[in-house]
Amino acid sequence: MHNPIIAALDVPAVETAVKLVEHLSPVVGAFKIGSELFTSAGPDVVLMIRTTGSAVFLDLKFHDIPHTVAKAVAAAVRLDVQMLTVHTSGGLAMLQAAERAARDTARSLDRPPPLVLGVTVLTSLDSQELREVGSDAHVGRQVERLASLAVQAGLRGLVCSPLEIAALRQSLPAEIKLVTPGIRIGPQSADDQKRTLSPREALEAGADWLVIGRPIYAAQDPRAAAEGILATLAP
Ligand code: C5P
Repeated sequence: MHNPIIAALDVPAVETAVKLVEHLSPVVGAFKIGSELFTSAGPDVVLMIRTTGSAVFLDLKFHDIPHTVAKAVAAAVRLDVQMLTVHTSGGLAMLQAAERAARDTARSLDRPPPLVLGVTVLTSLDSQELREVGSDAHVGRQVERLASLAVQAGLRGLVCSPLEIAALRQSLPAEIKLVTPGIRIGPQSADDQKRTLSPREALEAGADWLVIGRPIYAAQDPRAAAEGILATLAP
């Protein structure tokens, strides 16, 4: 089994991120760089992590006109990231442009294309807020609609909440990779996550990758925390 843990590096300073990567790279499967770290540290932080041999998930959730998103995806592929995110609400043409840019750029560099992951409905939105932006107020239905649009566009993966995994596994082709945040272990604090599953529950429901932030990086000993999570996944 591959190591399904993606450690989110939700820290502002490059030094903190690099220290976490040094401690964690033997015990996690990939590192996620989000808007905070990328905006403060820049693309160098991606290159730095890649020199350790670890996989990088660049979570910048691109959402723009197709041409611009394609250019951004191509730039991410040149940084040699293994996963990246786009908003599925950007529409079919934008999603197709993102996937095409990922494949074409990777081919020109002779490396495997990254997994372009579609983000459906942000878990921070409730039905009232969905209605306010003119969307179907039924979260599940809107997730299903956007997920099927992503698959139609040729995307090979999606980000989803733990509670959406089972339904999406039923409706999507089996080869679609599902990446889920909102993972909590035992009696741990849920922080601001409203819908959580344990790592084992999420994998059993059909997740391929688990994005884990605070339970690892905010732990007193992040390496021990990651090892503890891995141990809960052993058969
Ligand atoms: O600290 P925690 O484990 O809650 O971090 C989860 C990570 O997953 C964060 O980087 C957060 O931005 C991301 N995420 C999320 N919920 C989503 C999408 C992404 O928590 N719906």
